[in-house]
Amino acid sequence: MKYDKIMSGKKCCLSPVSLEDAALYKEWLNDLEVSTNLNTRPYVLTFEKEKEILEKLVKSETDVVFGIIDKKSDKLIGNCGLINIEPISRKAMFGIFIGDKKYWGKGYGEEATNLILDFGFNMLNLHNIFLTVFSFNKRGIRCYEKCGFKHAGKLRETRLVAGKYYDVVYMDILDREFKNSTLKNFIE
Ligand SMILES: CC(C)(COP(=O)(O)OP(=O)(O)OC[C@H]1O[C@@H](n2cnc3c(N)ncnc32)[C@H](O)[C@@H]1OP(=O)(O)O)[C@@H](O)C(=O)NCCC(=O)NCCS
Repeated sequence: MKYDKIMSGKKCCLSPVSLEDAALYKEWLNDLEVSTNLNTRPYVLTFEKEKEILEKLVKSETDVVFGIIDKKSDKLIGNCGLINIEPISRKAMFGIFIGDKKYWGKGYGEEATNLILDFGFNMLNLHNIFLTVFSFNKRGIRCYEKCGFKHAGKLRETRLVAGKYYDVVYMDILDREFKNSTLKNFIE
């Protein structure tokens, strides 16, 4: 097995980010069908820039990022993370993308999200995990609803794509609302 499995579900697991995968991340993030949904990336990414971003993320004291690994093939299919972890207020922002588009719509996003929520709530002892998603990203919104995220509000018309304004939707989930822990099985 190439990848360590820190959190493991039925279809996928979460593994430490490997800098060796920078070329794959670059390829995915240069795909506008993927990156139009993301707010933190430039749209034209060189290998050097992506390596720099990954190096910074891996070293960060306030972010935890994972590669998402398909268990069947032991292949990297995407990335997810908890960003700006604040231990005093016990909150963090969640972000995810599945770069390999043949894995979209097959439940990998839901499972990876549940795994990282489990890690955030039960290992990092967070209280609130929130995210932003563009209103046109119906697949993302549905995925987060399935995991128990609630709609928390929106910033109206703050995303302009191809001449049209879209809302930035905020969603969040509290520790007591999270029902899909596998970690608890280890200790109960
Ligand atoms: C968003 C993302 C992580 C979701 O992961 P996924 O594996 O595709 O999601 P899932 O298969 O777990 O769930 C998707 C759900 O959306 C539904 N869906 C798909 N297209 C939809 C649409 N146009 N309208 C409404 N629902 C839709 C699916 O039917 C499924 O719901 P169901 O299980 O009730 O049938 C993934 O698609 C992705 O990485 N997309 C590109 C980058 C991105 O959007 N990142 C998130 C930025 S906030």
